[in-house]
Amino acid sequence: MTTHLAPKDHVIQPRPAKFNITEKSPRYWFDNDPFRTHFFNAFLTTFPPGETFFVRSVLDFRHLVTDDDLQQQISDFCSQEGNHAHAHDLHADILGVQGYSSIARDNRFLDWGLHQLNRWMPKFSLAITIAIEHFTAILAHQVYSAPELFIEPAHEDFKPMFQWHAAEEIEHKAVAYDVYQAVDGHYGKRITAMVLTTIGILMIMFVRLFPLLRKDGLLWNWSTWKNGMPFLVGKNGLLRRPLHHYFQFYKRDFHPWEVDDYYMIQEFREQYDSGEFLSDESIQTA
Ligand SMILES: [Fe+2]
Ligand SMILES: [Fe+2]
Repeated sequence: MTTHLAPKDHVIQPRPAKFNITEKSPRYWFDNDPFRTHFFNAFLTTFPPGETFFVRSVLDFRHLVTDDDLQQQISDFCSQEGNHAHAHDLHADILGVQGYSSIARDNRFLDWGLHQLNRWMPKFSLAITIAIEHFTAILAHQVYSAPELFIEPAHEDFKPMFQWHAAEEIEHKAVAYDVYQAVDGHYGKRITAMVLTTIGILMIMFVRLFPLLRKDGLLWNWSTWKNGMPFLVGKNGLLRRPLHHYFQFYKRDFHPWEVDDYYMIQEFREQYDSGEFLSDESIQTA
């Protein structure tokens, strides 16, 4: 069930890749700034428990999906999210080696909590999944619509990972949503999930960010916050810039493909298909 809104040439293509993020990668790899880097460290490392949760949440309802196209999309979605989780797990391991032990602890707790959600509230887990997939689609859209803000400041070791993950998030942004519509589609549940997810993500992000800054002796450093917060909530901030996109989710008839951004990843897809992307020395096929 590729909806009528999906682009005509739409495909979901899993692209296994391994990135050159090592102990030698710079500690402050985003814009040479500790706050921005640790925000991304805190965020990107939620993907291993988060994306395996998305996969479980969708697979719990796969047997109710009768459409062959959507069945294939579910398979490709699971492959992509599995690859992403693995890549970000390797990044989390490097942070552990660098002494940021809170990440592994936070992820164990998050993984446990998300397993409990799957176990006790499977339908609501699917609703939460589509809410978080909306967030990843928004961020992916930002990466491609404002590369000067969200790709260029990253160190070379990290840039390809941003491009790769963001492109695949755009490709599969409607899969969990279409599964939800096929098996439930309840509007109130979807909106409740989004409100709770928004609050939960903001809380989790700061709970994860604090120990990273504390480890570097920067938690109570005024200039760290003064330089960092505009990146999130300033005029072009990561959390402020896409507010319109965020609120589209609350429309009763919302569908992810009404935000037309497939064309934005055309160049990445061509670079990947021609082998140019993988020829970058910072990437290996996984
Ligand atoms: Fe992903
Ligand atoms: Fe995703």
